[in-house]
Amino acid sequence: MSAIDYSEKIPNNVNLANDRTLQRALEHWQPRFLDWWREMGPNDFASVDVYLRTAVGVDAQGWAHYGTVKMPDYRWGIFLADPIADRTIGFGDSFGQPVWQQVPGEFRSQFRRLIVTQGDTEPASVEQQHRLGHTCPSLYDLRNLFQINVEEGRHLWAMVYILHAYFGRDGREEAEELLARHSGDVDKPRILGTFNEPILDWLSFFCFCYFTDRDGKFQLKSLAESSFDPLARTCRFMLTEEAHHMFVGETGLGRVVKRTLEVMKETGSDDPQEIRRHGAVDLPLLQRYLSFWFSSSLDLFGSEISSNAATTFASGIKGRPDETTQYQDHVCADSSFELEVPDGKGGVIKDTSPMRNAMNEVLRLSYVKDCEIGLKRWNMQIKRAGYNFELKLPSNRFRRAIGTWANIPTDLEGRPISREEYDSRMPGWLPSASDKDYVKSLMQRVVEPGKMAAWIAPPERGVNNLPVDYEYVRLN
Ligand SMILES: [Fe+2]
Ligand SMILES: [Fe+2]
Repeated sequence: MSAIDYSEKIPNNVNLANDRTLQRALEHWQPRFLDWWREMGPNDFASVDVYLRTAVGVDAQGWAHYGTVKMPDYRWGIFLADPIADRTIGFGDSFGQPVWQQVPGEFRSQFRRLIVTQGDTEPASVEQQHRLGHTCPSLYDLRNLFQINVEEGRHLWAMVYILHAYFGRDGREEAEELLARHSGDVDKPRILGTFNEPILDWLSFFCFCYFTDRDGKFQLKSLAESSFDPLARTCRFMLTEEAHHMFVGETGLGRVVKRTLEVMKETGSDDPQEIRRHGAVDLPLLQRYLSFWFSSSLDLFGSEISSNAATTFASGIKGRPDETTQYQDHVCADSSFELEVPDGKGGVIKDTSPMRNAMNEVLRLSYVKDCEIGLKRWNMQIKRAGYNFELKLPSNRFRRAIGTWANIPTDLEGRPISREEYDSRMPGWLPSASDKDYVKSLMQRVVEPGKMAAWIAPPERGVNNLPVDYEYVRLN
């Protein structure tokens, strides 16, 4: 395993000290990153002690070291997973040939665009979550938020390293731009829509971690297959950090369901008004939040049929998640993909596309399957408590802004409907203004160790075997 050198100004396991030019360029970017963190990150909590994990190595065993850190002192650095000896290209036209240690000139702009788009989401999420600390439901949750924030900051470092190390002046300019765009900014927004949606409450935060970070997982998984080996190695290590973000989303929403079921049992009622009188999140309200974040995140995968997706697959730039274990045919030169598209007359017809052009959709479908796992678990909780309410993911066609279903009004099941019906039923499908007001009213800060806000159950266990009532964040 390659150890991480923490004696350097920028902790790294890429032998940065041996490349003076690159080291100087990154040391020049570092204070700008810290300025950005101070301005756009959880800056009101800069002086508090947080129980955080930091990477000490990149192997599966003890890569994480836990300790109390003030966030601005967190050691952001450059960590790549260890190289795989004799790794060969796993998909596309060059299947079986050795992987690339440099970016081939002809693919430079495609790689740059993918890396910048991925890199842009990392600081974006920190910006979106910037004020959540003030309304935390517990110290345990506050610590998890900050852990995610520092790791998204590190993911930015991961992409900036690749830009600096392999894309020369263009890369350095893109790295500057990653700090210049801001989530929701009118003039310079973040690149992807979902990353400009405000996250003003913790229910949205958990949905974001569950659905939007999971998009990140799938994008990283497909970039981890890339023939450009340094990118693949960077993404492989990012995925180990990303797993915690999924965990926070899934357990956060599971704890909301658990608390709601307790209140339903206590009151003997499933009437949303009654549940709200007791300060919990009624299940129909939760469903509307899930529908919002899921449908928004679906667009992140791009168009169902895309010549760009075909090129990136054919050239070995971006593969499919778990390419080796999940698929038999890694070239996909003459296979096809069937999908349902709008027929232009308010109906649906079947269409066939070359498989390579449908790679975005292939990725989206494996994402949807992964999203269903949590819902199954929560529905089991609901069923076991004796209720027959079922949380559901809306259809992939619902509320799409990109792709074949963009701007086609459908119901939650994906049936095309009239624009009037769509507009009139929307308040029942997505969070209404009064839903948001209610959720906002729940967002009261709870900071006594071990105490939880009334709308969420405590976690089953604490962090790193510590008790739930451990003081994970020392506020004064
Ligand atoms: Fe990330
Ligand atoms: Fe993440």
